[in-house]
Amino acid sequence: MKKITKAVFPVAGLGSRFLPATKAQPKEMLTLVDKPLIQYAVEEAIAAGITELIFVTGRNKRAIEDHFDTAYELESELEAANKTALLDIVQNVIPKSVTCIYIRQPAALGLGHAVLCAKPVVGDNPFAVLLADDLMLAELGHPNTTEQMVALYAQEQASIVAVQNVPLVQTNQYGIVRGVSYKDHIERMTGIVEKPASNAAPSTLAVAGRYILNSAIFSYLERTEKGSGGEIQLTDAIAAMLKDHPYLTYRFSAMRYDCGSKLGYLKASVTLGLLHREVGEEFKAFLHNMQS
Ligand code: UTP
Repeated sequence: MKKITKAVFPVAGLGSRFLPATKAQPKEMLTLVDKPLIQYAVEEAIAAGITELIFVTGRNKRAIEDHFDTAYELESELEAANKTALLDIVQNVIPKSVTCIYIRQPAALGLGHAVLCAKPVVGDNPFAVLLADDLMLAELGHPNTTEQMVALYAQEQASIVAVQNVPLVQTNQYGIVRGVSYKDHIERMTGIVEKPASNAAPSTLAVAGRYILNSAIFSYLERTEKGSGGEIQLTDAIAAMLKDHPYLTYRFSAMRYDCGSKLGYLKASVTLGLLHREVGEEFKAFLHNMQS
């Protein structure tokens, strides 16, 4: 059985919902308190045993490469100033044992197309996909969503899609799945459709930005035509693959924040601000005073 050691991070989207913030900087470099969104996703993957990080980047995404690279000038200045705690933070953004690979998506043709760009590096291995704009906050002491999905893959060897229930009026914002009950929190997927209107939605179980995919997905992506929004949709390739390969849906327990939307991003910022070791207490008092 092949272990999951590779994760793909599609970071080539336009981030148009966040303009002008994303005009010159990638959405994935927006920060929650003191860490960019992409670092939260990378830490989740590394905790799940991933050792090869594959970023599918686009224009204006240089900052991501720089973030995970050595910062010689900054490091030598911090060293000279004896700021060892800060030096530590800068040097330990990712462990030395983890490799970063960058692939360029020439045009933002959709999430499915972005995943297909990773094919030369993924090869015939199963792999994880993490969308950094979906922040997953696991309960303290619990394994994170990617860890849980990697463990489930080890048991079942089927592709897996993370899902959560959404209000019926929101089905037109997500990939929506249909399934039959299998185990606790797990269903066997029988259908998936991208952004259905509420009256056409097969359920209210919506796909969140975590996947474990069998490499067979690439041949389906190669045959996938433009779908919803004129983009090559990962959902459409999964729907085609589902006819020949098993898929599970996993109802994760983490709190999910849609940081690709302004409101979700604000909610995540407040939550992480309140949890932050350095500023949490003062921030809580500040919010409390605001309300009274
Ligand atoms: P979104 O649907 O959030 O699109 O993409 P977006 O372009 O990032 O943001 P908006 O909707 O314009 O505000 C979901 C994920 O897929 C990636 C994005 O970077 C994000 O992580 N993506 C999307 C690509 O890598 N390439 C694409 O062509 C499209």
